[in-house]
Amino acid sequence: MDFSAELVQWYQKNKRALPWRDTANAYVIWLSEIILQQTRVEQGMPYFYRFLEKYPDVISFAAAHEDEILKLWQGLGYYSRGRNMLKTARQVVGQYGGEFPVAYTELIKLKGIGGYTAAAISSFSSDEPRAVVDGNVYRVLARYFGIEEPINSNKGKKLFQQVADEVLDKDHAGLHNQAVMEFGAMLCKPKNPDCAVCPLRNGCYALQHNKVSILPQKLKT
Ligand code: ADE
Repeated sequence: MDFSAELVQWYQKNKRALPWRDTANAYVIWLSEIILQQTRVEQGMPYFYRFLEKYPDVISFAAAHEDEILKLWQGLGYYSRGRNMLKTARQVVGQYGGEFPVAYTELIKLKGIGGYTAAAISSFSSDEPRAVVDGNVYRVLARYFGIEEPINSNKGKKLFQQVADEVLDKDHAGLHNQAVMEFGAMLCKPKNPDCAVCPLRNGCYALQHNKVSILPQKLKT
């Protein structure tokens, strides 16, 4: 089995049941991804439910007052996320008639949506073949392929995106992306990864070369 197939098989057996998976609704996926940007899953979950209950679609979100959004956001930090969300929602209503875009090239134009979030929404909602690269993905790729380029250098970012695009299962992009991220979060963890039970252990460069604890590399800034 290749890299992606192994990951997906692991994912199917080991994934957490999370409420924003198993939906193709781009608004719901967007909501979850922005909340999870600087927030752990356990912390973000109740916020996700509260937002979705109060604003079940992008039209109701866009009609909110900023202070209502910021009040619901309380405790999550990085309040610019909340403010940007309101701008995004209003952009979606104004420019897309309330139909949340699913194409990467449209999503990337929206306020507060960068490459990671555009790839996540487009692949999860419509299987557009865009590889997500977040901290989990950096770690999995750096270790498995033995990539020593720093993840925060321009060259590194480009290289990791390139590798992520190459290993992406383009027929099942959403599933593949979820699988890599979950694998990085649950098994290929920053500290004490579960290498003994890892399905990719035989092909893992870092494990074979005793470099698990030093990959990925990061430049001090
Ligand atoms: N963190 C960011 N996006 C996530 C997702 N879709 N599932 C789990 N954790 C995440």
